[in-house]
Amino acid sequence: MAEGLELRKFVAPEYIFGVDARSLAGRYAKNLGGHKALVVSDPGVVAAGWTKDVTDSLEEAGLPHVLFTGVSPNPKVQEVMAGAELYQAQNCNVLVAVGGGSPMDCAKGIGIVSSNRQNILDFEGVDKVRLPMPPLICIPTTGGTSADVSQFAIISNPLEKIKFAIISKSVVPDLALIDPLTLTTMDPFLTACTGLDALTHGIEAFVSNASSPMTDLHALEAIRLITDNLVDSIKNPQDVELRTRIMQGSLQAGLAFSNAILGAAHAMAHSLGGERDVPHGECNSILLDHVIEFNLPASPERFERIAQAMGLDLRGMDFRTKKKTLLEKVREIKKAAGVDKVLKDIGISRADVPVLSKKALHDPCLITNPRKATQRDLEVIYEESL
Ligand SMILES: [Fe+2]
Repeated sequence: MAEGLELRKFVAPEYIFGVDARSLAGRYAKNLGGHKALVVSDPGVVAAGWTKDVTDSLEEAGLPHVLFTGVSPNPKVQEVMAGAELYQAQNCNVLVAVGGGSPMDCAKGIGIVSSNRQNILDFEGVDKVRLPMPPLICIPTTGGTSADVSQFAIISNPLEKIKFAIISKSVVPDLALIDPLTLTTMDPFLTACTGLDALTHGIEAFVSNASSPMTDLHALEAIRLITDNLVDSIKNPQDVELRTRIMQGSLQAGLAFSNAILGAAHAMAHSLGGERDVPHGECNSILLDHVIEFNLPASPERFERIAQAMGLDLRGMDFRTKKKTLLEKVREIKKAAGVDKVLKDIGISRADVPVLSKKALHDPCLITNPRKATQRDLEVIYEESL
């Protein structure tokens, strides 16, 4: 069927974007019928002061709350289960997540565990959630994961050394309060990792075989905004205008990938993140150019439009030169952002590649990759990234 004529759905939560959006948490939690909130955050975000702004707003609205900060950078099965226990023991009926992907994914996990009375491990895969979760408000404090608008939750299972994906409309929050001011406390490395994650979202969503005109629009704009502003925002952390552009880029990348799903870079980054506790964005960054190189022959016109969004003009070039120019640009951004490690730098050797590839082959993100990848293909991409 011709492009753009297939059936496609587009799911997005209500969101409020702009400086001070975080202070609306109390009013909206009440509107959603909340009588007691479980606030899910992490120690770093608490130290930055953003969690207190949100709990202050809950107090102003007269809403009692309990704070749960037992979330580590890649949220673990046992953290979700502990949060769900607290949620139930405290008779909460609304969830408020303040933080990056980890607290937001953990809050999603707590929500579906609480309403379905099942272990979080039961929800792995696509559309495995039976009952909707309680109302969830997300206040993102990083410009990258977009868990605040996505139908994804990524949880780590340390016992099996895997990160698994829960993909379901049931984990789309009820409301996202997207406040660019919260990005001003991110350190350069976190800004870079989360920004490169968002760039990967935009690129993978645009070439995904589940893309649509609606996701394309957001994906290309995300790629443009992040390419143009990421390095400057790393250098000028207090510049709210730059932070706003990155936050918008992250939001648009999220709207795109939540609906078009992702590809091989994410499948392989999830496998990598299960094996080593390395930031998700760094895993993507290590793999991104190598995955583009693998995927390029399957969708050369789409990659040309990505290059265009990155400010490149490939007209008149032959395929090899186009490929070289795009890969150079991606590598240049990685280098300028300071996230240009290779797998060896994070302790991965050739001996780890078969296991990593086997796990990545079963990740649902691989289904929408534009080029069909076998286990051997994934092994080669990992080997090239060593
Ligand atoms: Fe991601």
